[in-house]
Amino acid sequence: MGIQVRQVSSADHPVVEALLHEAFGDEPVAPLVTALRRCSGYVPEFELVAEDDGEVVGHVMLTWNHLLLDAGGRRPILVIAPLAVRPDRWRCGIGRTLIEGVVRLAEAAGEPFAVLEGDPAYYGRLGFVAASAYGVRAPSPTVPEVACQLYPIAGPDPAIAGRVMYDEAFWAHGGSGLPEATDPDGGYPLPYLFHFAQLNGWIEAVTYGADLDIPVTACPGWTLRDLLAHLEWAYRAAICWDRTGAAPVPAGERATDGGTSPRDPLPGFAAAWRETHTTLLARPPATSSRGWTSADRTVGAWRRRMVHEVAVHAADVLESLPSPRFPWRIDDALALDGIDHTLGVFAARLTGDTPAGGTPADCESRALTVRLTTGNRPVTVTLDGQRLTVTGDVAVVPGSIRDAVPDALIEAEPADLYLWLWGRTPAGAVRVDGDQRTVERFLEATRYARS
Ligand SMILES: CC(C)(COP(=O)(O)OP(=O)(O)OC[C@H]1O[C@@H](n2cnc3c(N)ncnc32)[C@H](O)[C@@H]1OP(=O)(O)O)[C@@H](O)C(=O)NCCC(=O)NCCS
Repeated sequence: MGIQVRQVSSADHPVVEALLHEAFGDEPVAPLVTALRRCSGYVPEFELVAEDDGEVVGHVMLTWNHLLLDAGGRRPILVIAPLAVRPDRWRCGIGRTLIEGVVRLAEAAGEPFAVLEGDPAYYGRLGFVAASAYGVRAPSPTVPEVACQLYPIAGPDPAIAGRVMYDEAFWAHGGSGLPEATDPDGGYPLPYLFHFAQLNGWIEAVTYGADLDIPVTACPGWTLRDLLAHLEWAYRAAICWDRTGAAPVPAGERATDGGTSPRDPLPGFAAAWRETHTTLLARPPATSSRGWTSADRTVGAWRRRMVHEVAVHAADVLESLPSPRFPWRIDDALALDGIDHTLGVFAARLTGDTPAGGTPADCESRALTVRLTTGNRPVTVTLDGQRLTVTGDVAVVPGSIRDAVPDALIEAEPADLYLWLWGRTPAGAVRVDGDQRTVERFLEATRYARS
């Protein structure tokens, strides 16, 4: 009978999920599809399956997202993602048939084009062209320019040019574009810039059009507007450090225009994170850079510092939003790296490299140990006067106290422990056992290290 394309039904969902696992392997595409079904831009008629002899062998989604117009404002546009065909049926024309199906829907909706990210070697055969020919830019700098493509229905229109803005579901479930290469042996284990883009893209998506005057619970006195201005400042400061070896003259992080009237912080924030991404991607991570700590003066150190800056604040935004639609958690690997970063790099400032000067207010002479257990990776932290020494799997400072009986035990999931170290305490998520005073001193020391 041949391939039939039809609208998906809820009865198909488990089969579609299995198909996505088969087609995409480890990539978490099934949760993305589930999240997209809950988006305001989801139209049930725009989710199609290909059926062959009663069996679902392919799937595609077309959802409404936005184009941030160069001329100002934004307009809805249609995005094709994801597209998947069961591997045993690849190269039988099923992908092409599904694309033809969603293109017909975009045409019927009166749209000038439908956008996607993908391999031009494949999509070029199906009639897609580089989106840049229409003045349409990718949602993230992680997308190679040739990968941002569109199916042209009408001709280019300068009034419909701008940057693609994905719905938050895309950012909360996998992001956009490709992770950069990692180098675990070179001390660069994660695609920091990919995570950086994903987290900033998510913040952008959820704060556009939101009430920016709502308070940020974790940062007393701050509103969302202040937080966006702070991030812009942090990114610009990093670029300035990297280029000149000095922090910029503090221009004030508060989101006013120099007077008392609030300004829209989103354009500055959006430009700053993209510029930071581009600046830090341009040189390999081992390249030397200027920085605020002698612990690591490389481009990679800045990549790492920046992703942890935004990860903690993205969690702040999530907590502050009135009703987040797509709650997400910080990725385990990123959280473990963040714990290492907090205890290693920040705490290293307490062991001599302390540009801010000074010492914690109350240093005791007796060494105390705290055992942190997370993700099955125990880390031991010793507080010895003003020194904070870390040993364990994610530790950076070797020591001989591995077997010491700890004064306090702290156990939590990686994301919870990570945020706890940054003073964000998910209620009940961190189990603390042992000497309370030791725990307080440990937190005091990490707080001091972060200041
Ligand atoms: C990419 C994918 C959807 C292609 O589906 P498919 O049903 O095999 O594609 P088709 O058979 O319709 O191929 C259409 C044309 O592209 C060619 N083609 C197929 N896969 C290709 C590939 N990976 N690279 C280049 N060309 C390819 C086919 O030969 C055919 O060319 P022709 O019409 O000139 O003969 C499928 O391989 C898949 O599900 N992959 C995993 C998930 C994925 O990567 N999705 C896309 C990103 S969202």
